[in-house]
Amino acid sequence: MEILRTLLSLWIIMMIVLMQLSSNVEGRHHNHKISKKQNHKSSPVSIVPAYAPSPGDNANADENSPPPQPPDVVPSDPIDLPPGNSPTTSEDCAFDVRDYGAAGDGETDDTAAFRAAWKAACQVESAVILVPAEHTFMITSTIFSGPCQPGLVLQVDGVLMPPNGPDCWPKADSDKQWLVFYRLNNMTLTGTGVIEGNGDKWWELPCKPHRGPNGSTLPGPCNSPAMIRFFMSTNLAVTNIRIQNSPQFHMKFDGCEGVFIERLSISSPKLSPNTDGIHIENTKSVGIYNSVIGNGIISLSLIIIRFELNTNNECATIMHDKYLSNKRFG
Ligand SMILES: *[C@@H]1O[C@H](CO)[C@@H](O)[C@H](O)[C@H]1NC(C)=O
Ligand SMILES: *[C@@H]1O[C@H](CO)[C@@H](O)[C@H](O)[C@H]1NC(C)=O
Repeated sequence: MEILRTLLSLWIIMMIVLMQLSSNVEGRHHNHKISKKQNHKSSPVSIVPAYAPSPGDNANADENSPPPQPPDVVPSDPIDLPPGNSPTTSEDCAFDVRDYGAAGDGETDDTAAFRAAWKAACQVESAVILVPAEHTFMITSTIFSGPCQPGLVLQVDGVLMPPNGPDCWPKADSDKQWLVFYRLNNMTLTGTGVIEGNGDKWWELPCKPHRGPNGSTLPGPCNSPAMIRFFMSTNLAVTNIRIQNSPQFHMKFDGCEGVFIERLSISSPKLSPNTDGIHIENTKSVGIYNSVIGNGIISLSLIIIRFELNTNNECATIMHDKYLSNKRFG
């Protein structure tokens, strides 16, 4: 009995030590101006106060409450996944943005239609928001917020893009982000289409590094929006989609848990400044499979990883059958 008790207390002490040790592991990251040193352990929410969606009181509660279950980490074998692009869309769970008034002509501001489609789909389990092929939809900076029913899919088969450059960007909108997905669980972004960032006018802002003489920078506003941002969400999948020409980072995960990325392609020209492929911060359990990332001039910044390990070392960034390079994506 005595031995058992001793063993038990030893075990408890070891667990505590392990938890301490594993709470602050940083992967490699580089010296973007953005990655300031932050105490990301204690307050992930405070990292983005300037442009975070105003976190309701629940946001803090989420942070402090124990993680519900070990996340359904990274599906270990992507080969088992259905090969097709489209989830089976039954009639009553498909929400075509055109049914909510989207014009899809590449010029009309379709933001209101997307918001309405989101609002409706969010209430329904396994809903699919459809952005149909052969149309180009322009929407302004939008926070797509949860919680929603699980299984929500945003399926982009056409082209989805922001306003064309800083001059067209609504003054009232944040110029640090375009699409934000916030407080979602079990959501998928997929499709056979393209999310086009229209980044070229942003890259040419006078403040960007290559614009000044001898690599210096010129004064002027310098914010450029990150294209797609997942914030404080769990069990996310991003598959098949092509994302290109972001004004700044293409895709960003912050305060998320359980991210599965497969057959994603990200591309932007070599000379585009700060167009990192995927930026991962304060995020646990990330798997990236069969994806191609070809982007800007900063060759070592294609992926920035900074995340915390689970105590049981479940967390890993797995890459296989893929390559990272700053080659132009064909
Ligand atoms: C750029 O660098 C060259 C060589 O160092 C120098 O001669 C030139 O004056 C610099 N130009 C400016 C605008 O600083
Ligand atoms: C959502 O949940 C279902 C059922 O647990 C699971 O099969 C699916 O992979 C989840 N999707 C994501 C994106 O995590």
